[in-house]
Amino acid sequence: MKCILMNKNTEVLLAEYNPVSKFFDEIIEVYHIDYAPYILKSFYEENDFNNNPFRTNLSEWFKGRGIPSWRDKLDLLLHRLDITTPTELLDKAFGLSLSDQYWIKPYDSNLKYDDINFFDNDFDYAEFLEASLSLNSKVIRKETSLKTPNNTTDGMLKKAWIIEDGTRYLLKGGYRNEVLQPFNEVLAAEICKRLGFNHVEYTLDTYKDMVVSKCPCFITKDTELITCYQIKNDMKRYDTEEDYEDYIKVLEENGLKNAREELENMYILDFLIMNEDRHLNNFGIIRDVNTLKWLDVAPIFDNGMALNVPYYDEEEVVISGHGRLFYEVKPFDEIIKVVSDITRIDTSKLEDIPEYFDNLLHEYQSITHMSDSRIYRLCVLLQRQIDKLKTLIEEARK
Ligand SMILES: Nc1ncnc2c1ncn2[C@@H]1O[C@H](COP(=O)(O)OP(=O)(O)OP(=O)(O)O)[C@@H](O)[C@H]1O
Ligand SMILES: [Mg+2]
Repeated sequence: MKCILMNKNTEVLLAEYNPVSKFFDEIIEVYHIDYAPYILKSFYEENDFNNNPFRTNLSEWFKGRGIPSWRDKLDLLLHRLDITTPTELLDKAFGLSLSDQYWIKPYDSNLKYDDINFFDNDFDYAEFLEASLSLNSKVIRKETSLKTPNNTTDGMLKKAWIIEDGTRYLLKGGYRNEVLQPFNEVLAAEICKRLGFNHVEYTLDTYKDMVVSKCPCFITKDTELITCYQIKNDMKRYDTEEDYEDYIKVLEENGLKNAREELENMYILDFLIMNEDRHLNNFGIIRDVNTLKWLDVAPIFDNGMALNVPYYDEEEVVISGHGRLFYEVKPFDEIIKVVSDITRIDTSKLEDIPEYFDNLLHEYQSITHMSDSRIYRLCVLLQRQIDKLKTLIEEARK
């Protein structure tokens, strides 16, 4: 099947696409390579555009837009949607997403981006939401319920895009039976708000007796998220702090003058909430899809995998915990050292954060059944991290 890979209204390339294998068997013509997904840039050769690395990576990139094989409760979701693999979903809605503007246009069609994109055009989400997040759900067999941006969500957690008053929101549940993640998202957003960090606003919602986090889409029809993973793909890997420094350099060269401060902010947040999951697809940049200009560092998102120290003794003084700094897994106390001037942080803004979190966890206790002692320990842990940050600031001032 002949298809054009589109980036919003721009034709990127023409290819022979196999809807069964999801493989691009032949690249027939390249129109605007600059508008291709960022990760493909380094595989492209002008004189040999049908070369194998480029074609393979195009196919891998496209398949990678589907729901990943490691999605929590994937088997159940597939059963409920009555399909066998997540890639089956890719052709149901042209591969469109709410995190970028790429889509696959059949060569002989007159389809227009304006008529099909999910930013302007509403989609049925009720069935997908139920299949994804409810404990008991029927099998879905309605074709329209598969025409949604839910076919192209990444990440491990159960999730679903919904529309409320015209706004697109992403709902995310907890991992397996864990209920903490949505609360961590809200806590992180509150900390970011107080400290003035550029972040995605997360609130809590309930869906069928389950607490979920809810955040608005931070991408518009004119932008795309390019994750650090894509940017790093063709860069030298050091497995040291060099990876961080090199990344900042590339962002600065592309006009993001505040890159260092924004990345530092992310690591300060990770330190405070002990976020273990800052892998390279959990941060990135925002690019304008019309001009290809890099606009900003992406607002801080996906902070759920935090405060994950379930068993510790109240008397224990040192709780280290490990976070991620690019390819390294290191103690938070080490990672925080990347912050060049920690004294710029006003910790007085965080004074009542443990109390705020305590109230939040108690408010939903009848649904989550989280024990008082666990809530207490989580808040003690949070307080300890805030105190540690204060100490670091005092030491830096000396
Ligand atoms: N508010 C948003 N607006 C646009 N795109 C988003 C938004 N939130 C998340 N995304 C996209 O969806 C992907 C999955 O979301 P998220 O990282 O929050 O899920 P997750 O399941 O917690 O991921 P992980 O596997 O890292 O734990 C993100 O990598 C990003 O591409
Ligand atoms: Mg993620």
